[in-house]
This record gives sequence, structure tokens and C-alpha cells, in this order.
Amino acid sequence: MKTLRTRSDLRAALGSMGAGVEVGLVPTMGALHAGHLALLEAARAECDLVVASIFVNPTQFGPGEDFETYPRDEKSDARTAKAAGVDYLFVPPVKEMYPDGFQTWVEVERLSQGLEDDARPGHLRGVATVCLKLFNLVRPRRAYFGQKDAQQSAVVEQLVRDLDLDVQIRVVPTVRDEDGLAADRVALSTEPRLPPEDVGLARFNGRLHLVAAARVGRTRLIDNVLLEGELA
Ligand code: PAF
Repeated sequence: MKTLRTRSDLRAALGSMGAGVEVGLVPTMGALHAGHLALLEAARAECDLVVASIFVNPTQFGPGEDFETYPRDEKSDARTAKAAGVDYLFVPPVKEMYPDGFQTWVEVERLSQGLEDDARPGHLRGVATVCLKLFNLVRPRRAYFGQKDAQQSAVVEQLVRDLDLDVQIRVVPTVRDEDGLAADRVALSTEPRLPPEDVGLARFNGRLHLVAAARVGRTRLIDNVLLEGELA
């Protein structure tokens, strides 16, 4: 596995691949866990070459959110990525992705309304923008996202449709512990340490989800169960 930190190194590495090599991209913010491993495994199984990015994207954090304290452990993430068969690990510094003068944003209007964007205004604009940049840099055949972030996955699917991007979005089912959370408002509201911020039904791109969110400290935890429809 090779770690690359600049757009030019990434382009040079990928440019040397022969035509017809199918590249899979797993965008992450690091702190890799079992959910990321499922994305990496899916990419490894379906693609010739796997690129994972680790970039704690400042533009998807709202004011007062935990950008500075977001967990960062590149060494441990690199070990995990290597063991999962990643070929290239892209770990750009913030200035590499957002150079001085950066001022162009992508907004998926309707799908970004409500839920995550109500709780974290601008969050999905930051996600859409960084994903578009990563798609342009890596030019993957497929890109992998977790079902846990249902609204995010739907926003990225819509971005790809609306802007005619030549990438297939794969949404990988949520990995759960044995005691996987079954969330409804009654159960959550009886747990005083975990008051729910959102519980309800949400339809994204034809899929119906039961969604739940709760805040622990300054961190918003989200989860959902797919009730109707199929993951991409
Ligand atoms: O889900 C995440 O970790 C991030 O939102 C993503 C997709 C890597 C974009 O920064």
C-alpha cells in the first residue's frame, strides 16, 4: 500500500494504471472501524484497485462542532487499510483539498433538507463538495458509502445523477454489534442520558428508513433501519 498526500501524486499514480482497470474509492474521515472494513471489503471484492481516502473534512463540521478533536490516528488507520487490501491511501492536508481562494460549493438542495442539515447546517454541502472533488481526483468506477449515513448516501447518489458523473455508488449495509440498537422514540425517551433529537420515517431515493439521532456530548449519533426498498 502506498500513502499519497497530494493531488498530483495521486493523479500520477492512478494515471499509470492501464485502461480498463476498475478503481474503487472508499472515502473516509479515518478512525476506521468495522463499518469502514465492510466498505473496504466490498471495494476489494468488486474492483481491481482500491483507493481509500482519509480526510477529516472541515467543511462538513458546523460551528462549535468537534473538528479539532475529531479522532485522528493515521498510523493505526494505515495498518487497518493495508490489511484490508487498500492499494493507495490518500491522506491530503486541508490546504491540498481547500487551497487559498477556494469558493465553489455543491449543494443537493431538496435531499439535504431536514435531519442532518437541520442539526448541522451546511454539513451535507460540505460532504457533497468533498465527494465531488474526490470523484474528480480518483475517477473511480465505484464509490462505497455506509447505509448508516442514509441521507448522506442519498445525497451522493443524487449528486452523481444530477451532474452525470461516471461513478456507481454502492451503499453497504450497516455493521452492527450483537446488541444492535433498535430505536423508537419511547425506548429512547426512557433513557435519560440519551434524549432523542430525531426519530421518524424518512424516504430517500425511493428507500424508506426508520431514522433516529441522539446527541452524546457534542457528537450527534445517527442510525437507521431500511424498511422498504433496496440499497444501491
Ligand atoms: O462519511 C464520512 O466519513 C464522510 O462524510 C465522507 C463521506 C468521507 C466525506 O467527508
